[in-house]
Amino acid sequence: MTDRIIPIVHATRTSLPPGRDLAAAPEGELVDQRKRRVRDLRISVTDRCNFRCVYCMPKEVFGDDYAYLSRKQLLSFEEIERVARIFVDLGVEKIRLTGGEPLLRKHIENLIERLAKLPVEITLTTNGSLLAKKARALKDAGLHRVTVSLDGIDDAVFKRMNDVDYAVGDVLDGIAAAAAVGLAPVKVNCVVKRGSNDDQILPLARHFRHSGHILRFIEYMDVGSSNGWRMDEVLPSADVVDRISEEFPLDPIDPNYPGEVAERWRYADGGGEIGVISSVTQAFCATCTRIRLSTEGQLYTCLFAQSGHDLRALLRKGGGDEALRREIAAIWRGRDDRYSEIRTAATSLPAAKKIEMSYIGG
Ligand code: GTP
Ligand code: 5AD
Ligand code: SF4
Ligand code: SF4
Repeated sequence: MTDRIIPIVHATRTSLPPGRDLAAAPEGELVDQRKRRVRDLRISVTDRCNFRCVYCMPKEVFGDDYAYLSRKQLLSFEEIERVARIFVDLGVEKIRLTGGEPLLRKHIENLIERLAKLPVEITLTTNGSLLAKKARALKDAGLHRVTVSLDGIDDAVFKRMNDVDYAVGDVLDGIAAAAAVGLAPVKVNCVVKRGSNDDQILPLARHFRHSGHILRFIEYMDVGSSNGWRMDEVLPSADVVDRISEEFPLDPIDPNYPGEVAERWRYADGGGEIGVISSVTQAFCATCTRIRLSTEGQLYTCLFAQSGHDLRALLRKGGGDEALRREIAAIWRGRDDRYSEIRTAATSLPAAKKIEMSYIGG
């Protein structure tokens, strides 16, 4: 492990394609305090997970006696659908189901079936452990794509990262099953923790070249209060790109859409593409169009927000959709978050104030 401290470069990506300036929202369109639209709704459907990834749900904190949400605290599928419908009406184009591990939520395909009736893309982030079994049902329910987390291709490293002795082969089977039923392109997300799994960058790149799947490396973030985050455990994306391009030359490619969190690179020899997500060294708050709904119906306008808005209370109060729509629009209009842009080691929020990634979803 190196003790090199990385500088935080508060570079933000402001170079959107001409005519696609997020600030230039049409008159009357819902925008927040920084002129950002709402485009991407992330819905956490459970706070439970069968993995104990060291950077997300370390065993010392998420042990047998951890108090997860009870069944009656969860939003029902009807309630989630109602909120989603209102968000779509307000401009949301993509819904991502997250967790914890979303495939642990009973009858998740019934929720997908409801959401798939809306004119939006439906995606899901999973650890892949139940994917081989569920891919067909998810596709039939109307899911469009999946993103699978995979923090190593070497069994020993992967098992150390998931901390429940889960083997790589089963996740690879899940990825293959997803691609086979058409939940494609499958994106594979690897959180890089310097000194823990950064030796997996090249082996992962070698494995997924020419596979049709899109491998993406994510900088380890200071989300939650359980992972004991330290700046020197962050490996900057620029180093990831350097390491890979030494073996396989890479060329930068344009984003698929304004505000895409991943910076895309293509293998010069036609081996496909990879992505890097630089949430620490190159914040992307300026184009952040995301909002998050927790399992129990708290609405968060930022991954690092210190408190949410209680939509469950509003949903259960008995008001109509129009009242709910007005409340949600007012929450977005008031949004001013840009935590990753202003984060420094000194401003990193105190542990007590942070919500966990397993609660709010990636
Ligand atoms: P697609 O483009 O639809 O495939 O999804 P995406 O690029 O939004 O990626 P995904 O949802 O897989 O997010 C990847 C990772 O980026 C997450 O697991 C987080 O680690 C990080 N990330 C995503 N959104 C945010 C965000 O709003 N803020 C921060 N700080 N990190 C984020
Ligand atoms: N830093 C970056 N990404 C994280 N995730 C969870 N914890 C962290 C963290 N500390 C992301 C991973 C995982 C998804 C569910 O959440 O991408 O795949
Ligand atoms: Fe579970 Fe995903 Fe968190 Fe790992 S990162 S513990 S798979 S929710
Ligand atoms: Fe969006 Fe907050 Fe992440 Fe910035 S830190 S990109 S505002 S969720």
